[in-house]
Amino acid sequence: MAFETICVLGLGYIGLPTASTFATAGYKVVGVDTNPSIVYSLQKGELHISEPGLSKLVKDAIQSKNLAISSSPILADAFIIAVPTPFYDQKKADLTFVRSAAESIVPFLRRGNLVVLESTSPPLTTNEVLVPILEKSGLKAGEDFNVVYSPERVLPGQILRELIENARVIGGINADSAAAGKELYQIFVKGEIITTTATTAEMVKLMENTYRDINIAIANEFARLADRFGIDVWEAIQIANLHPRVKILNPGPGVGGHCISVDPWFLVEAATDITPLIRTARQVNDEQPHFVVQKLNEILGTLAGKKITALGLAYKPDVDDLRESPAVEVVQALLAAGADVTAFEPFKPGFSIKGIRMASNLAEAISESDLLLLLVNHTQLKVIDPGQILEQTTARIVFDTVGGWNPQIWQDAGFEVHRLGRAD
Ligand SMILES: NC(=O)c1ccc[n+]([C@@H]2O[C@H](COP(=O)([O-])OP(=O)(O)OC[C@H]3O[C@@H](n4cnc5c(N)ncnc54)[C@H](O)[C@@H]3O)[C@@H](O)[C@H]2O)c1
Repeated sequence: MAFETICVLGLGYIGLPTASTFATAGYKVVGVDTNPSIVYSLQKGELHISEPGLSKLVKDAIQSKNLAISSSPILADAFIIAVPTPFYDQKKADLTFVRSAAESIVPFLRRGNLVVLESTSPPLTTNEVLVPILEKSGLKAGEDFNVVYSPERVLPGQILRELIENARVIGGINADSAAAGKELYQIFVKGEIITTTATTAEMVKLMENTYRDINIAIANEFARLADRFGIDVWEAIQIANLHPRVKILNPGPGVGGHCISVDPWFLVEAATDITPLIRTARQVNDEQPHFVVQKLNEILGTLAGKKITALGLAYKPDVDDLRESPAVEVVQALLAAGADVTAFEPFKPGFSIKGIRMASNLAEAISESDLLLLLVNHTQLKVIDPGQILEQTTARIVFDTVGGWNPQIWQDAGFEVHRLGRAD
């Protein structure tokens, strides 16, 4: 089938790069978002999210007149849904956005169209949630129009490159749908395109993130054990990883972001009786910020009234994304324990969290402090020279939760050094 017009619903971290990439490849694209302020700013060529290279790509796409931004869908050959799939407090997937995006397509759906769901979703969502909504059009899925599930597996910070180079899974509700999906993504994907069923594709995405979550959970548990038995977990991991079949990940203050900390719950929700390992790993990682706070309490004797400088709030290094960030959770728990917290997030200096003083630069963040707490391994924070900042801060204690600082160098500069997973 020929694709001339593509309608992308949801213009966030996934939808905006996808829409812009199709547009710069020469296709007519309408990007749709229900948030009026996002539509307004994008129509002026201004971005609401930060991702390397994205600003130029969007500008190029808009200037080429191939990308239009709108608040509602139009008639198109293909519809791509890239809306959020958060979860409720009860750890259940919230499919409200997927449902409303699908409903908004119904009046525009025509024979021969392709509908793609990219949003991370629980198993069977494509067949049991998306298809019944689309069939309200009076057309039959798999006969009159095609439906695929194609998960996005890009790494924030590398989205534009990975969108094109990564292998892509296309899961069709039938073989024709999978073939149509493959034809669409062949427009720009250079990585291998694998076709399978919609439910397999849903599972692949969830399995990848669950695998990562469980591996981080064991690293975090090793950090706690190292602390208990008086050894350095970083040294132990390094030695263990010399084994040719062992690859232990790094421990840290927890697991965050919109994917790894959320997706495993979709499997637990879908099959609670057979997923004890997945649930336990999630709980281990969710408890990790509190383990960090407990260690800080031991180091400082008390948290009440202590001035703590939290360095980094993003959920991982070198991104501006604070969603589900364990660093934010650590900061909030410190605040609840009566600590006086100043935070510095180099990628979001203007950000505000209730009750937290946000510094606009490093010097301001560290000047009045009892302890410097490294929460995110941002390059900018990793390279802090302890000798250089010694005179700029009143702090003489540091706690590194991510293995970002060389303890010897910090000790030699005059700091008392503590590291997660290292008994001092
Ligand atoms: N961000 C990532 O790195 C990443 C990676 C892989 C998968 N995913 C998945 O991709 C999906 C999208 O994630 P994101 O990070 O782009 O989300 P996002 O929050 O950055 O963007 C989603 C956008 O969808 C808009 N929206 C909500 N309902 C809509 C509707 N009915 N019609 C049109 N627009 C609507 C929102 O206003 C928002 O701008 C999620 O399921 C996520 O889990 C994200």
